[in-house]
Amino acid sequence: MFVDSQRLHIAVQKSGRLADYSRGLLRDAGLKIQNGKNALTARVDNFPIDLMFVRDDDIPTFVADGVCEFGMVGLNVLEEFALDQPEARFDVVAPLGFGRCALKIAAPEAFAYPGPDVLAGERIATSYPRLLRRFLDERGIDATVVRMTGAVELAPRLGIARFVCDLVSTGATLEANGLAPVETVMESEAVLVRTRKVLNPGKQELSENLLRRIEGVLATQESKYIMLNAPEAALGQISAILPGAEAPTIIPLAGTPGHFAVHAVCKESVFWETLQKLKAVGASAILVMPIEKMMM
Ligand code: PRP
Ligand code: ZN
Repeated sequence: MFVDSQRLHIAVQKSGRLADYSRGLLRDAGLKIQNGKNALTARVDNFPIDLMFVRDDDIPTFVADGVCEFGMVGLNVLEEFALDQPEARFDVVAPLGFGRCALKIAAPEAFAYPGPDVLAGERIATSYPRLLRRFLDERGIDATVVRMTGAVELAPRLGIARFVCDLVSTGATLEANGLAPVETVMESEAVLVRTRKVLNPGKQELSENLLRRIEGVLATQESKYIMLNAPEAALGQISAILPGAEAPTIIPLAGTPGHFAVHAVCKESVFWETLQKLKAVGASAILVMPIEKMMM
C-alpha cells in the first residue's frame, strides 16, 4: 500500500456498528470527508488526512505498524489483539462514548446456570479466544475454547459447543438464538488509538490539532451551559452543586441588589435532580443549554 508520508491516516471500521459513529465524530470535529461509500479510503478536503476503511480486526495492526497514525476500534478487538501481541506499539487515547457492548458467555436459555465452575470440561465457541482464555485462566477453569470467526451464536445448535462467548449489545441476537447471558468477560466501547511510531514534525502538529478537536467534541457531548439567577447567600452552595464546573461567571442583576446571574460550563451530565437541588438552595430561572463547540 502506498502511504503518503505527509498525510495522516485514520483507520475506521468499513461497515458495522462503529462505522457511522466514527465518521460522524470526525465530521463533528470539523473534518470535511469526501463521499464515496464503497471506497477503501476517503480524503479529507480541509486537512491532509485520509480515512482508511478497514475490517475492525485489522485496525490494531494498522495502527501498531504505523500505517495509520490513528484508529477507532472497539476495546474488545484491541485487547484481543494486545493479548496476542504484547509488544504492539499503540496507545489508547480516549474512550469515544459509542459502541458500548459487553463480551459475554451465554448458555442455552433452558440451562440453569449454577456458576462458572460448570464451564469446566465444556466447549465454548468464540471469536475472542484470548479474552475468553484469560477469563477462564483467572478462575482456574479448564474449558475448551473453540475459535470461530462469525455466526458464533449458531454453535450450540450445530453441536459445535454448548456455550458461546460473544458480543452483546441489545441482546437481540442471543435471544433470537435461544441463548441467555451468564457471565460478563469484559465491558467494551469504541476507543481512539494512536500509534507509538514517532511522527515527523508536520504530522505531529497535525495530530495534536486533530486530538484537540476530538477532545473538544467529546467534551461538548456531555457538557452543558447553565444560566440561573440566585441571591448572594446561595452562591457558595450553587457553585458546589454545579457538576464539573470551573469558576462560574457571576454578574449582578440590574435593579435587584443582592441578586446575581450565574453562568457556568458544566462538564458532567446535568440531571433533573441537579436542577432540583439548585432550586432548593435558592436558584431560579435555571436554563440548561447544549454547547456546540468547545476548545479549552
Ligand atoms: C456482534 C455479535 C452479535 C451482535 C450482538 O456482532 O457478534 O452478532 O453483535 O448484538 P445484539 O446484542 O445487539 O443483538 P458485530 O455487529 O459486532 O459484528 P462482528 O462481530 O462481525 O464485528
Ligand atoms: Zn468484527
